[in-house]
Amino acid sequence: MPRLSDEFISEIKYRNDLGELAGSYMQLKRRGRNLVGLCPFHGEKTPSFNIYTENGSFYCFGCGTGGDIITFVMKIENLDYMEAVKFLAERAGMTMPEDDYDDSMSKLRTRIYEANREAARFFYSKLVSKEGAEGLRYLRNRGLADSTIRRFGLGFAPDERFSLGNHLRSRGFTEAEMIAANLVFKSRSGNSVLDRFYNRVMFPIIDVRGNVIAFGGRIMSDQKPKYLNTSDTLVFNKSYNLFSLNNAKNSKSDSLILCEGYMDVISLNQAGFTNAVATLGTALTADQASLMKRYCKEVILCYDADEAGQKATARAINILRGVGLPVRVISIPDGKDPDEFIRRHGDKGHAAFQNVLDNSGNDMDYRLQKLKLRFDMNASQGKLDYLNEGVKLLCELDNPMERELYASRLSDETGVSRDSILEQVRIGVKRKEKGRRKQQFSQMQRRLSGRDDSVNPQRADHPRVTNAEENLITYLVRNPDKLTYIHERVSPDDFSTIFNRKLYAYFSDKILNNLDPMTTVSADFSSKESSRIFYIVNARENFANTPQALDEYIGIILKEKAKPSESEIKNSSSDEFADFFSRMKNDHQ
Ligand code: UTP
Ligand code: MN
Repeated sequence: MPRLSDEFISEIKYRNDLGELAGSYMQLKRRGRNLVGLCPFHGEKTPSFNIYTENGSFYCFGCGTGGDIITFVMKIENLDYMEAVKFLAERAGMTMPEDDYDDSMSKLRTRIYEANREAARFFYSKLVSKEGAEGLRYLRNRGLADSTIRRFGLGFAPDERFSLGNHLRSRGFTEAEMIAANLVFKSRSGNSVLDRFYNRVMFPIIDVRGNVIAFGGRIMSDQKPKYLNTSDTLVFNKSYNLFSLNNAKNSKSDSLILCEGYMDVISLNQAGFTNAVATLGTALTADQASLMKRYCKEVILCYDADEAGQKATARAINILRGVGLPVRVISIPDGKDPDEFIRRHGDKGHAAFQNVLDNSGNDMDYRLQKLKLRFDMNASQGKLDYLNEGVKLLCELDNPMERELYASRLSDETGVSRDSILEQVRIGVKRKEKGRRKQQFSQMQRRLSGRDDSVNPQRADHPRVTNAEENLITYLVRNPDKLTYIHERVSPDDFSTIFNRKLYAYFSDKILNNLDPMTTVSADFSSKESSRIFYIVNARENFANTPQALDEYIGIILKEKAKPSESEIKNSSSDEFADFFSRMKNDHQ
């Protein structure tokens, strides 16, 4: 496969600083030579994300994700390798070499973006033409001003099965591209392609970089499904994106208002709340929570007033807290959702919603309030049950001041002293902490035993030699001048685990060709594998980097190699067995 040269990738890395780039997405603190922060790739409250500034790599000890600046951009911007390289090239003002590399995948992505943009234009032009009269009437009837319709680029898909497909074909898009964009699909006979969306008002979904990535289409009657959305494509994953985040990220507010639906977000925008976003017909995911965290300091939950909405609220609180985002919760006093609420208040929509916002409590207020409704507070047993459950909630608070505040509140509500409530909370927190440590410990043991090691599944059978192999590889990468010394003693065949054998050959080849061994690891290995490699080579703090240690690593590898494998033992004759045992004895003398 033709590919970008090592020199070009080196240049990209030289001209972009990982610490500086990562700092624009997250808070980083200096610790010795490293930078540390809360990992942007999984939820955590104490920082385990490390940037090694001397070699431009990162590793998270919490989730095991590691890599170089290209990996970082791939993960945080949700791009493939080639797109991440382009992103960094542009950032550094470099031009990409001519198309002599294989990027058919990213070319197709580009075509999908273009097809979606053209489709959005098409739907809009239909909405404002005679054909779209019904759609325009529908949106206006729902209280949307023409300026709002334009701002969101809303549109109309005509009641025909070949309308968008024909249009896109006339603009040079191939059927394969339209299908990949999920704008059309093959008919059952396979002879034609049909439009996915017809007779619906259309809501384009736009990512933070301004690309049209998908559509939602609403039927104008009571038929089902009410909303039809683009299925996941190469450019769209509904659990990674949020509707209208492209607008909300430019709002002046420090918070994001999270609602359930397209119409809620649009009505809130029209009423002046441009910081509203919505999930795309799915329950909130941790990825979406991390995405929000990049653009706000706090999330205001504004789900529907019905029971499903309240259940979703409880779930969302946990997910948002999990990524360290403070939460406030809004209860819509009249109307089923924010859209209805705002419409009901007409011209005063803004003031009315602002009032609701000002009266919203944080997630603990909300949860205690909900909890209290479940118990009969006039009976002692009811009060006790409320207290017990309330204390459990308070145990989730990290901040002692917050704990005291809510303990006072429970005390006022039940007549039990604040001190004895706080004592219960202390006991609960201790118990939870103990449970957490236990869990961490067993996780660590599992990792060390190699039972769950999908990258190097042979670790479990050869734990000691696997470590020695990793040490030898690390030594080699950190001391490329020792290549000859090492090669004279160890060949790839001496390795007991296949993955490490492959690494040894890979790095040897790089060094023999005078290339920096780590430069293209993120291109040449899967994301799990390269995470592992960056861990082995860069992230281990207790690695012994001395010539004596090197000889030890070599010794362990060669000794393991000299042992016959299990299958050899099973197949060997008794003579050979005797021979083997005498050799073993010699070894131990
Ligand atoms: P709702 O039914 O609450 O949406 O579903 P809504 O915005 O209030 O709809 P209107 O006001 O009747 O137009 C919430 C969200 O769930 C997704 C959509 O994203 C919708 O905005 N959904 C709902 C679907 O994807 N498919 C459906 O059939 C229904
Ligand atoms: Mn609604």
